[in-house]
Amino acid sequence: AFKEQVFSGVQPTGNLHLGNYLGAIVNFVALQSRFSCVYCVVDLHAITVWQDPAVLTRSIREVTAAFLAAGVDPKAHIVFNQSQVAEHAELAWVFNCVARLGWMNRMTQFKEKAGKDRENASLGLYAYPSLMAADILVYRATHVPIGEDQKQHLELTRDIAQKFNNDFRPQIEAKGFADGFFPMTEPLIGGPATRVMSLRDGTKKMSKSDPSDYSRINLADDSDTIAQKIKKAKTDPEPLPSEEKGLEGRAEADNLVGIYAALSGRQKAEVLAEFGGGQFSTFKTALIDLAVDKLGPITAEMRRLSADPAHIDAVLADGSERARVLASETMRHVKEIVGF
Ligand code: ADP
Ligand code: NA
Repeated sequence: AFKEQVFSGVQPTGNLHLGNYLGAIVNFVALQSRFSCVYCVVDLHAITVWQDPAVLTRSIREVTAAFLAAGVDPKAHIVFNQSQVAEHAELAWVFNCVARLGWMNRMTQFKEKAGKDRENASLGLYAYPSLMAADILVYRATHVPIGEDQKQHLELTRDIAQKFNNDFRPQIEAKGFADGFFPMTEPLIGGPATRVMSLRDGTKKMSKSDPSDYSRINLADDSDTIAQKIKKAKTDPEPLPSEEKGLEGRAEADNLVGIYAALSGRQKAEVLAEFGGGQFSTFKTALIDLAVDKLGPITAEMRRLSADPAHIDAVLADGSERARVLASETMRHVKEIVGF
């Protein structure tokens, strides 16, 4: 049996948004009471597409500040940035040699992110899932909180773990690891909202990379900006239904009700019982108040932390040091297993 361990990461690619918060960070905070957790700012993943260096530095600190502001405890758990623990890249190389091209070719996120100009995508973007497998398995993590969008990558992580365990079975058994060296990591798809959609288009997920700033609520947005974005959020002319099935085929309405439910810790049915039959404008006013009330303190704390970058850097340095202890222990075994 493997010791229970949580790992998860967020990319420092700017525009940290409500989807990241409700789909990931809230869950990170909740898991702290049940698991030992490693939370990583995955800067090596960020550079799979071009990042302006000065912006990247700021974004690493912004994601760290968001973790801390939301309630991640960097002393009881581990918070650090990936590039500072070389074992991630080291294990990823071994996994590049375990993973098969055919597996990588099935990854839908690469196809989406590479777009039409595939010949011009970086080799790192293609190998991204192999690095993600290394992030998780370098801590031999048993549980990974992720959004729906990362499910396919986690399946690949399990394929890599299984192939490694099979390819090196005699060496692994000789070391006394009876259940294989790497665990079959389980996804924890939970959190108040696993898929927050764009405020401009209910069929697209809210994303950092959406060119329209009005498509998302950023954690750094002030109250006025949040209010403007919710006022401008796309809706349809119908009033809100009083039951959940009335949201079918109404992606934008469904999304706003889902956001309200997630932020208030209620079910969509309860939200509709309160607001159903009423005008959208009334509901939007309540949603603005709720969003400002819930996100305001986090934004304020992020600002406070961001004013002291040396403190954030010290948190990351301390986390990196402790992460390195765990990761280097895994790599020591991996090197012996592989025959280095
Ligand atoms: P993005 O997808 O915006 O580039 P990341 O890839 O860094 O952000 O994702 C960080 C975490 O946030 C992941 O766990 C991901 O599943 C989650 N996440 C991202 N977008 C959303 C969304 N729209 N709704 C719910 N969770 C999301
Ligand atoms: Na993502």
